[in-house]
Amino acid sequence: MREQGRLCPDREGKRVEKTLRLDKLLADTGRWSRKEARTLIRQGRLTADGAVVRQPENRVDPETTALAVDGAPVRWSRYAYLLMNKPAGVLTATEDRHAPTVLALVPEELRRPGLAPVGRLDRDTTGLLLLTDDGALNHALLSPKRHVDKVYLARINGTVSRSDVDAFRAGLTLEDGTACLPAELESVEPGLCRVTLREGKFHQVKRMLACRGLPVLSLRRVSMGPLTLDGTLPEGAVRPLEQSEIDALLALMGR
Ligand code: URA
Repeated sequence: MREQGRLCPDREGKRVEKTLRLDKLLADTGRWSRKEARTLIRQGRLTADGAVVRQPENRVDPETTALAVDGAPVRWSRYAYLLMNKPAGVLTATEDRHAPTVLALVPEELRRPGLAPVGRLDRDTTGLLLLTDDGALNHALLSPKRHVDKVYLARINGTVSRSDVDAFRAGLTLEDGTACLPAELESVEPGLCRVTLREGKFHQVKRMLACRGLPVLSLRRVSMGPLTLDGTLPEGAVRPLEQSEIDALLALMGR
């Protein structure tokens, strides 16, 4: 186990602490609260490079130290990647003086400085929202050049026709003259459709469907790139991404 107390630059050139307290490091994974981490460390269940460590305040470099709890390896990431099932009625913002924000729904132990939503969902839109403090990934996922697929389920007043599907596929022009990239529109059942976009303009799904005479009654995002809401995350809940999900996101970004 190496102990180093120096600051080093991260991917964005920000100076970050190279070593972390063991209890903070375990809590950062989202699997334990800081209190639970302290307890399990004092119980002798944590090893660092194979040796039992019982002092939660001990600092290690998580990038070079092999940690395990009860013998199972602990994967640590310098950045937080959180998946939220956004409920209706909260703003996709980090702070607001008048309305609750998505950040207020993130449990204390998963919060980090710089944590921010990737893109935005309207206040009344529900579903998948990614939050991260990895600024480079946030920026890359929103870049118009990336064309990351975002899939929405929309309850509509009306029924999707063949010509609506064709118009979406050809690339719609909105009423204010905004040109949209080609998008997929599928009818799921009468009054319910699936929309797949590769960009994220303001109120885009609602405006695209409205311009086909199909007003949206409610909207839910069900996937973004390799991430999907699988139905196990209740509305308003947040969970850290699995390592395979983080790997898939970073691979999409060519990292
Ligand atoms: N399109 C919309 O109209 N609203 C959202 O929240 C997301 C996409």
